[in-house]
Amino acid sequence: MTDQKENILVTGGCGFIGSNLVSALLADERIGLVRVLDNLSNGYLENIKPFQSNPNFEFLEGDICDYNTCLAAMKDIHKVSHQAALGSVPRSIKDPMTTDQVNVGGTVNILHAAVEQKIDRVILAFSSSTYGDHPGLPKVEDKIGNPLSPYAVSKATDEMYASVFQKTYGLNYIGLRYFNVFGPNQRHDNPYAAVIPLFCQAFLEDRSPVIFGDGETSRDFTYVDNAVQANMKALFTDNPDALNQVYNVACGERTTLLDIVRYLQEITGKELKPTHEKERTGDVRHSLADISKIKDLLGYDPTMRVKEGLKKAYEWYGSFKLETQ
Ligand SMILES: NC(=O)c1ccc[n+]([C@@H]2O[C@H](COP(=O)([O-])OP(=O)(O)OC[C@H]3O[C@@H](n4cnc5c(N)ncnc54)[C@H](O)[C@@H]3O)[C@@H](O)[C@H]2O)c1
Repeated sequence: MTDQKENILVTGGCGFIGSNLVSALLADERIGLVRVLDNLSNGYLENIKPFQSNPNFEFLEGDICDYNTCLAAMKDIHKVSHQAALGSVPRSIKDPMTTDQVNVGGTVNILHAAVEQKIDRVILAFSSSTYGDHPGLPKVEDKIGNPLSPYAVSKATDEMYASVFQKTYGLNYIGLRYFNVFGPNQRHDNPYAAVIPLFCQAFLEDRSPVIFGDGETSRDFTYVDNAVQANMKALFTDNPDALNQVYNVACGERTTLLDIVRYLQEITGKELKPTHEKERTGDVRHSLADISKIKDLLGYDPTMRVKEGLKKAYEWYGSFKLETQ
């Protein structure tokens, strides 16, 4: 890299992972401008409020489904971190059309606009749901199964598009398959809230956390700082072998839902017992990542373990509750 500062576009920067990434980018001296493109469909202005007075920050309210908006958002930009998407397996089962339009159509717009605007590199938020029904554990990047939900189809399709754009247009990319990211700015007050925000909120309100299934379902829960680190490594790596690859982004730690409840009991000193409801469709039973590829090629090193991250997340939900009371 030359001494020139890099201008970065973060799509979905008003969302959970995107806003944490923007915070890290603005603190990094290699960065010039950080522009966010977000249509606020699942993001919050509150998440970018801390940056609004920063002269290196710009917010463009707009939709990745509009190609001209994507082109305009990439003007004077060097690299893109594409986080915008409609997450949630249940949402995609309820409304597969919109999930497809945003996650696939929007991503193709971003990739094509990146070609047209001669962007150096696009980092894409992919998903561990791409492993689908593959039984192997831990999950290794080149062994995927059949997707189990429309959301998983959309993310697997994005991976194929990124690879095809590399082959046909020479666009450089790095794909990050996130495994159940959690932490500050991940909302609990959202119809498609994830399990850790819901459990934290239940503990804050002295309610029993609700587990779908027996609680032995396991995940490789990943504190958001680790996902941000993966994005920073991907944006700045000068290892040519690291480009045009897909990586697992996780902790490499297998945690069941019952473990999360136990950790929260230890963190809070509250003896709340979970209640169990019927298992949901579309969810995989176990998920655990092999993170050797991202360690080797990008020098990724997850700094925050699950229990430590859960403590930080719980503190954030506590302060969030106070602010909104
Ligand atoms: N959170 C996780 O555990 C996880 C796991 C795997 C993959 N991912 C992927 O990581 C990315 C970020 O996830 P997140 O958890 O921060 O989700 P999020 O919903 O908090 O953030 C996504 C952001 O994208 C924006 N957005 C949605 N549709 C848009 C559109 N049409 N145009 C412009 N902006 C739009 C939303 O308003 C939101 O701010 C997503 O691509 C998601 O699929 C997340």
